[in-house]
Amino acid sequence: MPRDIKIAPSILASDFSKLGQEVRDVIDAGADWIHLDVMDGHFVPNITFGADVISKLRPHTDRVFDTHLMIEPVDPYLEAFAKAGSDIITIHAEATTHLDRTLQAIRDLGKKAGVSLNPSTPETVLEYVMDRLDLILVMTVNPGFGGQKFIHSQIEKTRRIRDMIGDRPIDLEIDGGVTPETAPLVTAAGANVLVAGSAIFKGSTVESYASNISAIRSAAAS
Ligand code: DX5
Ligand code: ZN
Repeated sequence: MPRDIKIAPSILASDFSKLGQEVRDVIDAGADWIHLDVMDGHFVPNITFGADVISKLRPHTDRVFDTHLMIEPVDPYLEAFAKAGSDIITIHAEATTHLDRTLQAIRDLGKKAGVSLNPSTPETVLEYVMDRLDLILVMTVNPGFGGQKFIHSQIEKTRRIRDMIGDRPIDLEIDGGVTPETAPLVTAAGANVLVAGSAIFKGSTVESYASNISAIRSAAAS
């Protein structure tokens, strides 16, 4: 049975001077979730925004806020990102020493817990935390910047993780270099949530966002 594919635009590629408008426009254009890339200039070599920006965006929509924390340490900030209105909080396996504890902390805050893996991190780190997870995010670029080239070795990793998930209700999300060309490769491998930044926000109008989203969606289903 074909999986229901969700499209999660990353606002990293949007116009930060009008974020609320960009969020509303991309939802009008057909987005399912909003992907929020938080970077600290330490875990990754770039800085974006924090919990205050997310809380200001929260009143603009009731769609799922998919918060991707590329920060280290992460534990001291979980509560702030929960209070800001995140629905899913995804942390990096590489950014916490005690992955099991961090995942429990996210669920204790009443949020869905996600783990992201850098391209060089093997899927085996997930083996003993599978029952504490709501989402697994496979990075198909090295995190830090939008507009990078898709790393093809992650397709096999995606396939292996889909096997590990089995019947569990865990979303399998792909982030980095997703385009109409790469989307079908990862959905065929078992992904059901696609993050895309530059491929969606190019064109800078709600009409172009709509055609960019529909190009990814129809390619993903093919
Ligand atoms: C990269 C971020 C991604 C990024 C994707 O560190 O996690 O979400 O915005 O951008 P594109 O789709 O342009 O590769
Ligand atoms: Zn991301």
